Amino acid sequence: MKALVLSGGKGTRLRPLTYTMTKQLVPVANRPILHYAMDQIRSAGIKDVGVIIAPETGEQVKESLASNPWNFNLEFIPQDAPRGLAHAVKIAQEFLGEDPFLMYLGDNLIGESIVPFVRDFEDGGSDAMILLKEVEDPRMFGVAEVDESGNVRRLIEKPKDPPSNLALVGVYLFSPEIHDAVSEIKPSWRGELEITDAIQRLLDKGLRVKSYILRRWWLDTGKKDDLLEANRVVLDELVDKDIRGEIDGRSRVVGRVSLAKGAYVIESTVRGPAVIGEGSVIKGSFIGPYTSIGRGCVVESSAIEHSVVLDGVVIRNIDRLEDSVVGRNTVVSRERMNSQALRLMIGDDAEVRF
Ligand code: DAU
Repeated sequence: MKALVLSGGKGTRLRPLTYTMTKQLVPVANRPILHYAMDQIRSAGIKDVGVIIAPETGEQVKESLASNPWNFNLEFIPQDAPRGLAHAVKIAQEFLGEDPFLMYLGDNLIGESIVPFVRDFEDGGSDAMILLKEVEDPRMFGVAEVDESGNVRRLIEKPKDPPSNLALVGVYLFSPEIHDAVSEIKPSWRGELEITDAIQRLLDKGLRVKSYILRRWWLDTGKKDDLLEANRVVLDELVDKDIRGEIDGRSRVVGRVSLAKGAYVIESTVRGPAVIGEGSVIKGSFIGPYTSIGRGCVVESSAIEHSVVLDGVVIRNIDRLEDSVVGRNTVVSRERMNSQALRLMIGDDAEVRF
């Protein structure tokens, strides 16, 4: 079995972060979302992985995967524009050949191993398998109607009037039958070749599509609050105490804190779950639970909680920063403790709330 990872497209919902960084590389607990997908693929025993990349962000994706700790045979497949998930399958046809494959959307994060799902498909009996999750508002997703044995009856992309509350999670398994189905569909109202339509095509031909309902969490890291929630859940579940950096005698580091090598905690309290990246310095500060501090940051005389701080950020004299996402190389500082004036140099689409 091969894997096809979709890391193209254009992220608009996470602006301004995604002006300079593709959404699959936005970090959760200091690791790009895409790397969690790669971990899952590795755990399923797959070696050959094709990665769809976009012209604007392809180089970043290649760079992020370059060290390849998973030992994959990686093939990068450029897509000229985001023409749809089924279009991605179409352009990957040469790479995929006649093999069955796992398709994984690079911005999806799930809290459950995909191994049982993959094994079930390998045991045979279906031409495709989809992963579903019950959601409150299915209108923003592909939605499935299934029978009591989990066989898929019908699929619709972003329906106004959803037939169920079962949303398609961005993880799919396909037999090579999908290639014919992809070649038979037309672009949707949004101008994309929809994988949902290709799977519906399999059903129309009388082929069997099975479903598997995800019991644990699924995070579609589309917006700021989703990103904070993903960070919270991943810190809670996947981060262990791991101290490689230095902590001075006047600091307290409590709970599951991952402190990377070259990081310093001076006269500060760090309360886990939290991660602090390589080379960051925390001085006279409080880093609260559910916080990720990237690499090469300086946090001084400040308190931060439930936030994601990307690489190279400086935070100084900020009494309390919470529920925040701070983009790379940003400076957030109060120059004089009692000053009411704000002096800002903020990029497009930023949000400043007091
Ligand atoms: O997240 C799950 C949902 O993903 C499903 O419920 C929907 O059925 C499915 O169509 C898809 O919906 P979105 O509209 O949210 O997909 P999005 O455009 O965000 O793209 C998903 C991922 O695939 C993202 O990492 C970018 C990548 N992509 C997307 C397109 C359209 C590509 O690599 N190439 C593309 O042409």
